[in-house]
Amino acid sequence: MASAISDDGMVYLLLGERAAVCLYADTPHRYGFLDFPYAVPEDADALLKAVLSALIGLRVECPLPSERVWEAEALLRHGFQVGRTQRRMVRDDLNAVAASILPAGTKRIDPSPDELEALHNLVFTGHSKPAGWRTDPDHLPPLGLNLGGQLAGYALSAHHGGLFWLSELAVHPDFRRQGLGRALTRLTLAQLRGAGASQVHLYVNDDHGQHAPRLYEGAGFKTHRLTLRYVKEN
Ligand SMILES: CC(C)(COP(=O)(O)OP(=O)(O)OC[C@H]1O[C@@H](n2cnc3c(N)ncnc32)[C@H](O)[C@@H]1OP(=O)(O)O)[C@@H](O)C(=O)NCCC(=O)NCCS
Repeated sequence: MASAISDDGMVYLLLGERAAVCLYADTPHRYGFLDFPYAVPEDADALLKAVLSALIGLRVECPLPSERVWEAEALLRHGFQVGRTQRRMVRDDLNAVAASILPAGTKRIDPSPDELEALHNLVFTGHSKPAGWRTDPDHLPPLGLNLGGQLAGYALSAHHGGLFWLSELAVHPDFRRQGLGRALTRLTLAQLRGAGASQVHLYVNDDHGQHAPRLYEGAGFKTHRLTLRYVKEN
C-alpha cells in the first residue's frame, strides 16, 4: 500500500490505483483523523488495518454522515465506538443579514491571543481543539465583545477548502442570555460577507445541547446533515 501527501496536508493511502482513504495525525495532541472519500466496501478491512497501524497511540476519529452504512459497520468491526453527533449547518443569502446591534454595555474589541485562549479553555473544557486561529492563514481576524471590562465572547471564522466557515463561537458563562451570541453570529456573517462569502458553513456538537443550534437557526442557518463521529483509542 503506497501513500501520497496532498496540498491540504492529508495523507492518502493508495490501494492499487485508487486513493482509498485519507488520514491525518496530530501527534502533539495525540489525535488522528481518517475518512474514506474514495473507498469501496471490499477494501475496508485492509484499509482500516493499515490506518490503525499508522496511527498507534492516538485517539482516532472518523466523522461519517449518518447515511454511510458500510463504512460505519467496518469501523465498528475494528473497535470504533460511536462518539459525538455533529450537525452541519449552512446559511445562504448573506445579503439579507441584519445589521448587528450590540447588547447594552458591550464593545467590539480585537481580543488578545491570551484572553481568547483563556476563554476558549473555560468554555470548551475537555475539548483539546487546537487553536488554529493563531497560526492558520485561513482564519480571519478573531471578533471579540467586551463586557464588564473583560472578554465576554468571541467568534472565529475561516476561509478553508473553498468554503467560508464560522469555526468557533463562545460566550462566557457569566454573560449568557443577553444577546452576545446573536450579536457575534451576525458580526461573523457580516465579516465573512465582506471577505466574499455568499454562503457560510458550520459544525455544531449536538451533545452540547440545543442552545447553539437554536442560536444558529435564529440567525438563518439550516441543518444540512447529521454526522456521527466514530472514535477509537488506538
Ligand atoms: C451557545 C452560546 C454561544 C449562546 O450564547 P448567548 O450569548 O447566551 O446567546 P444569546 O443570548 O445571544 O441567545 C440567542 C439565542 O440562542 C438560543 N439560546 C441561547 N442560550 C439558550 C439557553 N440557555 N436556552 C435556550 N435557548 C438558548 C435562543 O434561541 C436565543 O434566542 P432567544 O433569547 O430569543 O430565546 C453560549 O451558550 C455558549 O458559549 N455555549 C458554549 C459554547 C458553544 O456551544 N458554542 C457554539 C458551538 S462552537
